[in-house]
Amino acid sequence: MVTYSQSGQLNSIVSNVMRALQGKAQLNWEHLKPMPEFPFPWKGIRFWDAQPECVEMIPSRLEPFDFNPDEDFDLIILGYPIWFLSPPIPLTTFLKSDEAKQVMKGKPIITIIGSRNMWVGAQEDIKAMIAEAGAELVGNISLRDKHHNLPSVITIIYWMTTGKKDRLWGIFPLPGISDKDIDEARRFGYPILKALETGQYYNLQENLLALKSVEIIPSVLSMEKKGKKIFRIWSKFIRKKGEAGNPERIPRLKMFKWYLLFVIFFVSPIVTLFFYISYPFFLKKTRRNLKYYSGVGFKK
Ligand SMILES: Cc1cc2nc3c(=O)[nH]c(=O)nc-3n(C[C@H](O)[C@H](O)[C@H](O)COP(=O)(O)O)c2cc1C
Repeated sequence: MVTYSQSGQLNSIVSNVMRALQGKAQLNWEHLKPMPEFPFPWKGIRFWDAQPECVEMIPSRLEPFDFNPDEDFDLIILGYPIWFLSPPIPLTTFLKSDEAKQVMKGKPIITIIGSRNMWVGAQEDIKAMIAEAGAELVGNISLRDKHHNLPSVITIIYWMTTGKKDRLWGIFPLPGISDKDIDEARRFGYPILKALETGQYYNLQENLLALKSVEIIPSVLSMEKKGKKIFRIWSKFIRKKGEAGNPERIPRLKMFKWYLLFVIFFVSPIVTLFFYISYPFFLKKTRRNLKYYSGVGFKK
């Protein structure tokens, strides 16, 4: 397993999934360690400053890996949260490294995602990097915060910037993925164990989906797809002012921050309303999208 998790949320999901395999398979857990570590809790502009390099998938630096890239693993699990609709920089850095390409070549890969609720575009980026490494994605489990999109934005920002995972002002829901969903993630381990023991991965994603390993909300998907395109424009615009940490980026980062908050709280409710009004006209396309993004196939 190769994972990156700041608060430990993603790691709890991964360890619950892997429970069924304990004692039945030899497990190696590689915790990615950025150099320097990203702050948690995040402070001020530093949070927004991660956007351009996440979106552009620019690798940074990691501490040397503990695994031996010459070792022949039967199965590789990649566990990651989502940052700005993109893979987090430490995972991008791993996937673009020579060691990852060497160890992943020809291997079955399972992804485990723990996000707020917008992960689909990042998974497409991950699919591309898996394909580039000559590996094959055979399964995906994606857990998310099931609260409504708007309160979950507030609670995630509260959690990420204070480190406190409690109810903001006693009225907001708890931030992040529910303890129940994290706990019940252990059910996904059984089909994985079976696939590992038989070496048959062709129907693994079908078996995982039967256990509800992925649930996509059509209106959230539609919003995310638009957001991903706009994020690319912002990342290029901000990077014209230099690399991460360059103080010249600050005015543009602040513009991005206010733009994003405005879009989330004022534009997205209207867009969602229009989405559902026009839903019947795009039913076929929406169904096609849901099927594709729930699967492990990759078209680029
Ligand atoms: C910089 C940053 C950006 C994030 N952007 C997104 C996002 O675009 N979509 C989303 O669903 N979650 C987003 N999240 C929430 C993460 O996916 C994840 O739920 C949270 O960081 C906890 O993960 P952990 O296991 O690393 O603690 C973001 C978190 C951070 C820190």
